[in-house]
Amino acid sequence: MADKTLSILIIEDNEDDAQLLLRLLRQSGYDPVYTQVWTEAALREALNRSVWDLIVCDFYMPQFSGIDALKIVQSMQVDSPFIVLSGVVGEEKAVEMMLAGAHDYVMKDNMSRLIPAIRRELSEAQSRHDKKRAEQELEKYRNHLEDLVHERTTELQNVQSELLRKERMALLGQLVATVSHEICNPLGVIRNAAFLLSRKLDDNSECHEYLKIIEREVDAANRIISNLSETTRAKPPNRQHTNLDTLVDEIINGIKLPESVRFHYQRNPRPFMLNADRMQLKQVLSNILTNAVQAVGEKGHVLLLVSSQHKSDTLKIIDTGPGIPENIRKNIFEPLFTTKAKGTGLGLWISKEIVYRHKGSLKVINHSDLTQKELQIIRQAISTGDNGNALSSSLEIGACFEIILPH
Ligand SMILES: Nc1ncnc2c1ncn2[C@@H]1O[C@H](COP(=O)(O)OP(=O)(O)O)[C@@H](O)[C@H]1O
Ligand SMILES: [Mg+2]
Repeated sequence: MADKTLSILIIEDNEDDAQLLLRLLRQSGYDPVYTQVWTEAALREALNRSVWDLIVCDFYMPQFSGIDALKIVQSMQVDSPFIVLSGVVGEEKAVEMMLAGAHDYVMKDNMSRLIPAIRRELSEAQSRHDKKRAEQELEKYRNHLEDLVHERTTELQNVQSELLRKERMALLGQLVATVSHEICNPLGVIRNAAFLLSRKLDDNSECHEYLKIIEREVDAANRIISNLSETTRAKPPNRQHTNLDTLVDEIINGIKLPESVRFHYQRNPRPFMLNADRMQLKQVLSNILTNAVQAVGEKGHVLLLVSSQHKSDTLKIIDTGPGIPENIRKNIFEPLFTTKAKGTGLGLWISKEIVYRHKGSLKVINHSDLTQKELQIIRQAISTGDNGNALSSSLEIGACFEIILPH
């Protein structure tokens, strides 16, 4: 039988005892590769240097004791079998060592016990090792299972919320269809009556002002209804190559920018092309940019940053308004949610629906989600807007919206 190589750390000051131990091991078919230490420093060094199949330790040494050695071994998380081999101690010392965690205790005057004890401890160490490996495998498998369950749960949740959304949309669609029918007719009658009334009045009657208000508000009510019915009548987008540069021009021309509000959109020699339903995208950008301009108020900046990725395009709309308070962030995409006196609360809801139908995403992002390059562009745009006065290092950014459109 080939000798079994055994790496053994002998903690023993007595050379003869160490040699006796090695001889016994060789006689029993082992091929010991050993290091002998008898000081704390040498012990630590040996434990750091390699992994030992077995540690055999004397009880009394001039420099330190078996108990000290055991504590060091334990503190260094070494799991090798630790056998105490000693002559001159009594029962209670042996018990103390075992209680402290030694694997076995053999008296030097009963050496016949040594090899069987070593065999048993090596086999138990192997079992411990195998058990640990099995536990690690199990843990890995459990983690994998947990991931799988998590993945499936998220999928289910997505399907469920998609169902809920469709259901809500269908319900809302019915409601809107009924209400719009009931309301559009009277609105039409009011508008006609206002028109007829205006023809009956003198040209310089101040009532014309009031009639204009009636007409304007009737138009606003009609717009809300047509927006609502358009959004609830899920129209699939007619995706086509869309030139964003010209679209942005049209939108900005349609929004009345106050004198001191600057709009920034960096153009390249080649126009930025998107794969989207032009009219629907126009509605989305127009809603979000209008919100941004309204948020900025009298003075400030609105930016549109675009970038193209492998499978999608990203549009970020950033303004220097007051931002969106944390507590309403979860509400702003809900239909009819508004914080404005004259708001309808439909803009973001419609926009999200449209982007959703493009299989894209629309969300509010944090400033920390902006890249360094984007921050740099924003800083530059804002500082030139202030006639070259470089801004202080803190950027006064308000809301940031991100649209991702897959190609
Ligand atoms: N750029 C923005 N800055 C701050 N708040 C915003 C911004 N955009 C949207 N909001 C918030 O989201 C709400 C919903 O917006 P929206 O759906 O367009 O409806 P509306 O503009 O009619 O209020 C707004 O009332 C406002 O509170
Ligand atoms: Mg709006």
